[in-house]
Amino acid sequence: MQHQNIEEAVLIGAGNVASHLGMALVGQGIRVVELYNRTPARGRELATRLGAAFIPAIGELTRSADLYIFTVADAAIAPLAALLRLDDKLVVHTSGTMEMELLSQVSDSFGVFYPLQTFSTSRTAGFRGIPVCLEANTTMARLQLEEVARKLTDNVYFIDSDQRRLLHVAAVFASNFTNFMNTVAEELLGSEGITFELLKPLIAQTAENVKHGHPFHFQTGPAFRGDEQVLSSHRELLKDHPGYLEIYDVISRNIIQYKTENGKL
Ligand SMILES: NC(=O)c1ccc[n+]([C@@H]2O[C@H](COP(=O)([O-])OP(=O)(O)OC[C@H]3O[C@@H](n4cnc5c(N)ncnc54)[C@H](OP(=O)(O)O)[C@@H]3O)[C@@H](O)[C@H]2O)c1
Repeated sequence: MQHQNIEEAVLIGAGNVASHLGMALVGQGIRVVELYNRTPARGRELATRLGAAFIPAIGELTRSADLYIFTVADAAIAPLAALLRLDDKLVVHTSGTMEMELLSQVSDSFGVFYPLQTFSTSRTAGFRGIPVCLEANTTMARLQLEEVARKLTDNVYFIDSDQRRLLHVAAVFASNFTNFMNTVAEELLGSEGITFELLKPLIAQTAENVKHGHPFHFQTGPAFRGDEQVLSSHRELLKDHPGYLEIYDVISRNIIQYKTENGKL
């Protein structure tokens, strides 16, 4: 099927994803021609970096680009989408949770471009190995999105909205929660003046392990061993941190239950 090549993109948003995705698009020869953002200063700054024009009102964006990407907070997609009408230009959002149909009033051609990675402005990660999960409402839109995604990465998947929501919640466990667990660890050590550096090889090994088998195959620790004495001594240490104690108990109980139901794997 013959389809329009994507040569010019417009970004709506100037946050972490806009910044990383915008740089990746420009790096692959897809021009970001315009950028809209609620906060002008942040929008102008990213627009300048991308060689794009900053447009202060979403309704004034050009109608002649090939691809429009909403990279704004989930709750802002619908209200902003209500202000944009693009006939049949391809429009996508980058959310792990929101329905593709949120964009159905914007254009006849819409979809989702969900990069499954944790982006924060302070750290840049290359786009090449990142899984990109796509969804599109027409075969043409699907082909166009796949072509863009394949320019950025080798890992392209077609995932529907229900699957994407599940993927997102799994990613919250795998990445967001894990990162917060490290934050708790840092705070506990810090309260006794012990450097977090001591834990970094352990954290690195834990991340490395998942490449080599089922994650539970590598599970260790007092809950996994059923060591009640260590569990109670840890609870005692956490008595001044009721929130962390609650997390400790819930996760320990789940480890014990998972082992009972599934064995060691
Ligand atoms: N960060 C990740 O790791 C990641 C990964 C995959 C997908 N995503 C998805 O990508 C999208 C953007 O995430 P992000 O991490 O780039 O967000 P972010 O860095 O927090 O940036 C949020 C963007 O949304 C705009 N915004 C927030 N509330 C708004 C409102 N009420 N009205 C208008 N604009 C508003 C902000 O504008 P201002 O500058 O004016 O505040 C900013 O441009 C979300 O759908 C997110 O789920 C994120």
